[in-house]
Amino acid sequence: MRQLQRFYETTSAIIAETLRIHPIYPYLKCVANEDYETTTPGLIINSGTKLFIPIKAMQNDPEIYAEPTKFIPERFAVENLHQRQLLAWLPFGEGPRNCIGMRFSHFLIRISLFSLLSKNKFTPTSRTPIPLAYEETSLVLRPQGVYACR
Ligand code: HEM
Repeated sequence: MRQLQRFYETTSAIIAETLRIHPIYPYLKCVANEDYETTTPGLIINSGTKLFIPIKAMQNDPEIYAEPTKFIPERFAVENLHQRQLLAWLPFGEGPRNCIGMRFSHFLIRISLFSLLSKNKFTPTSRTPIPLAYEETSLVLRPQGVYACR
């Protein structure tokens, strides 16, 4: 039982850190449904304003995540969660219209990781692009040269 709990917590942190660096949707769009006074004096977001939320930029901002390009799953370890700014991690959106598939995705990623890593060992090769390059013509973040379907 403890091992299962550990697997669950470790994979949660790994998934969270991966989606922090590489959020599949790099930005969110929404519309303010009422006037909102921000913490910046004089800055009011009027009802009806269209908002663009740059998730990738926020999640890679060194003022929010120290050493943002480094893969550090411990940022999302259970004991560190209280230090986290809740709205600074948004790969699945937030609020009443956030992703309904969030838990299902976590489940699928865990099963895939378990199945792949229990039988294989992965190592970078001379053809592995480091840093990862994204497909330029895609609206979602996708590694260059890897196609979702053919
Ligand atoms: C890693 C995988 C996934 C990511 C990163 C992701 C991300 C997102 C994001 C960013 C949104 C918009 C949320 C917002 O505007 O605040 C969204 C919406 C949505 N997602 Fe996902 N998603 C994933 C997988 C899935 C899966 C597996 C399903 C279905 C089984 C799903 C179903 C939906 C639906 C139906 C919405 C629209 C919800 C609404 O408008 O009320 N997603 N997702």
